[in-house]
Amino acid sequence: MSRDFTKVILVAGGAGFIGANFVRLALADRNRRVVVVDKLTYAGSRLNLKAAEGAPGYRFILGDIADRELMLSVLREVRPSAVVNFAAETHVDRSIDGPRRFLETNVVGTFELLEALRVYRDQLSATEREQLRFLHVSTDEVYGSLPEGSRSTEKSPYAPRSPYAASKAAADHFVRAYHETYGLQVLITNCTNNYGYYQYPEKLIPLAIQRALAGKPIPIYGDGLNVRDWIFVEDHCEGLLAVLERGRPGANYNIGGNCERTNLELIRQICALLDEMAPRRPKVASPGKCDRYADLITFVPDRPGHDRRYALDCTLIRDELGWYPRTTLEEGLRATVRWYLANQEWAAAVQAGRYGGERLGLAVRATPVDEHERAVEGEP
Ligand SMILES: NC(=O)c1ccc[n+]([C@@H]2O[C@H](COP(=O)([O-])OP(=O)(O)OC[C@H]3O[C@@H](n4cnc5c(N)ncnc54)[C@H](O)[C@@H]3O)[C@@H](O)[C@H]2O)c1
Repeated sequence: MSRDFTKVILVAGGAGFIGANFVRLALADRNRRVVVVDKLTYAGSRLNLKAAEGAPGYRFILGDIADRELMLSVLREVRPSAVVNFAAETHVDRSIDGPRRFLETNVVGTFELLEALRVYRDQLSATEREQLRFLHVSTDEVYGSLPEGSRSTEKSPYAPRSPYAASKAAADHFVRAYHETYGLQVLITNCTNNYGYYQYPEKLIPLAIQRALAGKPIPIYGDGLNVRDWIFVEDHCEGLLAVLERGRPGANYNIGGNCERTNLELIRQICALLDEMAPRRPKVASPGKCDRYADLITFVPDRPGHDRRYALDCTLIRDELGWYPRTTLEEGLRATVRWYLANQEWAAAVQAGRYGGERLGLAVRATPVDEHERAVEGEP
């Protein structure tokens, strides 16, 4: 492993969905070295990093960002010039059932990582200190639910409404505070909903694909008219590299797909792609005609506090860094559906013993949150 200070990126949470796609993209430039630190929670898997395994300069370290001593020793050994933080609990439904883990990883974990970085930074030479960058990956959900027609800019106030969004917002504030107070060269990105390869099958799109292929009901929360902006994960990762390399320290950058859809529209589009790429068996009563996947769509009770709409104004990143999303929803979804069809073994392996497609996040409990969490997580 090279110790050239200018070429090493430490990627926290790199075994998750976006992190793994980012690692693959970053390693496409052979001058880069990438070291992943990941706790390998239910959502992380080294299977996601298969493409990186043989690459020169790639390395994996099992570790928790909330473990300051460990992170400091990793930083001292690896000597990165950039740290990108993807590590987080990310599923809104799970944050409703068990918010504590979100507080521990997303807020306390980010804080401990910042502290380790501060100590590491202070031991570097003046030139190295100048080069060191911390990119914190965040979400559009920190801006809260928006009425139709409006978009959040980087100057919009934070108004999180779910425990997940609240934990991400708190972490963003800490990251910014470390820039203002201690002069860390930080960058924050707030991105819309990602889709693409290696997304854990609890999230809307892979869950819909898995359930459709199993011939099971495809759940749609509430009336299905909640609006999200969708971005292909590789476009997001290109945006992250642009921000990391050319962004202004201290700045937030919105990253969006410029592609708003209701959940119902999106799932119908996926069903149509599946009809084309993996048609269901012909109907017995009318040979030659197949059942349609859309017939499996089933409306289920809404998520508590379900935000109606998120939308971002992404003028800043376009004007300053020349980045914009290149993949159309049709192209990206087609590639995604094709990938899941070809990677059913991966989907089975990452879910085995961890998640069986059940409904999460209904907040049906009378017990205090702490007791409920211990019960859910099997702790005494
Ligand atoms: N998925 C999206 O649509 C989306 C949109 C905007 C922002 N984001 C943000 O991007 C980041 C990555 O999201 P994702 O969808 O890839 O998440 P993910 O759930 O697929 O992956 C999270 C990764 O973090 C790891 N991790 C969790 N806790 C850790 C800890 N304490 N220490 C080290 N590693 C830990 C997990 O093992 C996993 O590999 C998150 O910060 C998320 O908030 C996601």
